[in-house]
Amino acid sequence: MIRINENYLKLKASYLFADIAKRVNAYTAANPDKPLIRLGIGDVTEPLPEVCVKALHEGADELAKRETFRGYGPEQGYAFLREAIAQGEYATRGCTIAPDEIFVSDGAKCDSANIQEIFAEEGLKLAIPDPVYPVYIDTNVMAGRTGANVGGRYEGVTYLECTPENNYVPAIPSEPTDLIYLCFPNNPTGAVATREQLTAWVEYAKANQAIILYDVAYVAFIRDESIPHSIYEIPGADEVAIELRSFSKTAGFTGTRCAYTVIPKKLQAYDSTGKAHSLHSMWNRRHTTKFNGVSYPVQKAAAAIYTPEGQAQVKALSDFYLENAALIRTAMQDLGLSCVGGDNAPYIWINTGRDSWEFFDLLLNKAGVVCTPGAGFGKCGEGHVRISAFNSRANVENALKRIAEALA
Ligand code: MLT
Repeated sequence: MIRINENYLKLKASYLFADIAKRVNAYTAANPDKPLIRLGIGDVTEPLPEVCVKALHEGADELAKRETFRGYGPEQGYAFLREAIAQGEYATRGCTIAPDEIFVSDGAKCDSANIQEIFAEEGLKLAIPDPVYPVYIDTNVMAGRTGANVGGRYEGVTYLECTPENNYVPAIPSEPTDLIYLCFPNNPTGAVATREQLTAWVEYAKANQAIILYDVAYVAFIRDESIPHSIYEIPGADEVAIELRSFSKTAGFTGTRCAYTVIPKKLQAYDSTGKAHSLHSMWNRRHTTKFNGVSYPVQKAAAAIYTPEGQAQVKALSDFYLENAALIRTAMQDLGLSCVGGDNAPYIWINTGRDSWEFFDLLLNKAGVVCTPGAGFGKCGEGHVRISAFNSRANVENALKRIAEALA
């Protein structure tokens, strides 16, 4: 009799955004004449930058001719893209990241889930923020790195609490941990970590021979120049941190799919005898075995954002969503709700002071607006909801009007 992976039984029945979709579908079935405005899942709405569209067309045309046709590309990504990233994202910020330390992939979601494969399944101490992007915790549950879910939290995990008291930036744990997930600008809270806060995390990781998984998928939204754009801006981070990035939110690639993970060659972890191994070599082995690369036109489109024209176009795109975010934040504050985020991130995290699913249902049923209930991101998310700035200006303005009426 074939047996299942029983770790799956520890999980909630469905993924957060699938849960929300179910409620939203029930609402639309019952109210077919009431159009919904979706400010829930952080999915982009604006078209791809022109430079990307042009590059996609050119890439497709090259594939149409025998002389320029390409089959499999390098699993790690084409050199032209890896070089453009090393220069455009890292050299410009004073970080020394070599092109061959960059692994191009089809998404930061998959990378953040897959990366744990190169670490031990047993005995690994996880440090996971609360609230958290659910992928970090759920995939570790699937891999058997946690105990049972007791009262909304998995046993054996160190939860890094992000609360109004610490301005949603977690404190360093008092105990040692091995694999630490951090995300700034944060999903779901929109909080950012200062250079001093990140330095403290790097020092903690060094002291504990731990690895930080630093998710910076929302880097394009940082406007406060004192905030690090990469963890490698912190001296010594290339000995303790893996960085995850994506073109999804930067350039509107949620449907196009392209991301990358940086694994510096200095990064090491240990086998059971205490011998050190290169994480770069291990991930290269994993990536070349399980992945065949992102399609050529998509990589060409991603590289196009590193031209001066491309830089201006992606800046305009994130500026547009940040203007939405500012409107949302002001409207919520005018309603007397306290909120954070939205200034260096496309998410506004609202402290509603009520049950978060109840507030979600109220906005859905009374305003026809979809948000994300904070409890879906963890225990510390209770009492909060997340509103995403990813939508058209007209929809955001309309949603804010409807929310104000619903809460009046
Ligand atoms: C979100 O809404 O949290 C994002 O869409 C998550 C993601 O990028 O997968």
